[in-house]
Amino acid sequence: METANIGGISFSIPLVLILMLMATLLLRAAEKRRRDLAYFSSSYGPLVYLRLGAVDAITTDDPAVVREILVRQDDLFASRPKLVSAFQLSYGGRDIAFAPMGPQWKRLRRTCVEHLLTTRRFESFAGNRALEALHLMRDVRGKACKGEMIDVSQVLGAFTMNNVARMLLGRRYLGAGPAEVDELLNLTRELFRLLGLVYPGDYLPLWRWLVDPFFVGTEKKIRDVSRRLDEFLQRVIDEHRQAIEAKNLTDGEYGANRDFVDVLLSMPGEEEEERMDDRKMKAIMLDTFAAATDTSAVASEWAMAEAIKNPELLQRAQEELDRVVGRDRMVRESDLGDLNYLRCIVRETFRIHPPGPFLLPRESMKATELMGYHIPAKTRVFINAHALGRNKSVWGDDADEFRPERHLPADGERVEVLRTGELEILPFGAGKRKCPGATMGTTMVLLALANLFHGFDWEAPEEIDMEEAFGSALRKAKPLRPAGHGGATFGGFPVPVTGR
Ligand code: HEM
Repeated sequence: METANIGGISFSIPLVLILMLMATLLLRAAEKRRRDLAYFSSSYGPLVYLRLGAVDAITTDDPAVVREILVRQDDLFASRPKLVSAFQLSYGGRDIAFAPMGPQWKRLRRTCVEHLLTTRRFESFAGNRALEALHLMRDVRGKACKGEMIDVSQVLGAFTMNNVARMLLGRRYLGAGPAEVDELLNLTRELFRLLGLVYPGDYLPLWRWLVDPFFVGTEKKIRDVSRRLDEFLQRVIDEHRQAIEAKNLTDGEYGANRDFVDVLLSMPGEEEEERMDDRKMKAIMLDTFAAATDTSAVASEWAMAEAIKNPELLQRAQEELDRVVGRDRMVRESDLGDLNYLRCIVRETFRIHPPGPFLLPRESMKATELMGYHIPAKTRVFINAHALGRNKSVWGDDADEFRPERHLPADGERVEVLRTGELEILPFGAGKRKCPGATMGTTMVLLALANLFHGFDWEAPEEIDMEEAFGSALRKAKPLRPAGHGGATFGGFPVPVTGR
């Protein structure tokens, strides 16, 4: 069987002859490339083969092919390629998200699921999330009262980052205070940007030695972001160590009050090392921190943009909130299950604006057959979640339209934002490498949106530009900066305002 028989594009480049030309084209196309990839599948068939420099790659937006890759042959496609940016930023693949499939990945993922993301632990942080929702409302209120435009991505980024910091580090503002949160937010965004770059050096090895160091400097930027994040993470670890030593606590005594960093500090290392080494700890901390923060904030920003662009949709969500929650208190996490229309908005956002448009790239661990085609070992796999959500054969002719009503069940049953086993909407991936933070991510998005819609009226001073910037995260090309209107306080509640 021939790889080139798969529908689509196959090009092999004589490397030495036209390296520079290829390099220039690759660079120019880098930003556009992911967008182009998004449309390959619909133009060339359900499974598209690409030859990217020296690398075999396939992409798909078809539920049947996705099922084959992520469910039936999940074991075989569950590794990650070694990309320059991911390798450098993940302490040489010592993390969870970019680690190749193997015992180290298994062990770290288990640690994360069993110590950070258990249902019990997640529920025990509900009070903290309520406090963070209050801070979010205060923040927006302060700006609304001064007539300032709200930088939605910034306020939502701070909300998610603080929630994650509480679960991960056991406290809210990291180190120096809110300014450090802003700096960290910018750093995590830069991290995502770098991870999402189509870096020519991943496909043309000579690029790394002949072009990048002299003309582009991508790897220098990666090293710089990596160093700055490392300083922050090392500081957090050192502070935790000092706190444990100061209290002279043993593992047993520390017990229930431990945050995730404490757990990592108490874990044995590999090959009979007494403790896990700092680099591995930092890699896991960075994974969870970055994976949780930007993705949730990006999804919430898209939902806000869609709602503000379409006032009838916003009004319908607000009427539901008034009916379910009333006008004398903030939205609680326990209300979220009764907010069917809001849940449809979030589900529709995940369909049409999945925060990870290509999930994270996977790599086949050995040669296999897929839908009748031969796929060599080490083929790179891009699951096109973005095009999957807009696939007209699945979603009908209005697939490009943001229409939350499409998810409302006729019988009034509760809307499930995520359905077990579903592959047509894939914000968190599926199979072995599925996002372990799906419940936490969805709850943060629902909670932030519910309170922002409930507490404020929103209007944009000008037409909202819905252009998408493709990268690891699918963010808005132009940040959303609407006005939030506020006035009265909720009943006896000390903080939020609403002019509604
Ligand atoms: C709306 C929020 C979120 C979205 C949209 C999201 C999306 C994703 C996606 C698409 C992947 C790749 C899945 C694949 O390759 O098949 C992923 C992986 C991952 N996510 Fe999330 N995520 C979110 C929140 C979170 C949270 C809250 C955490 C943890 C605190 C988290 C931790 C991770 C980790 C550790 C991985 C790597 C999994 C592995 O490779 O084994 N994510 N996420």
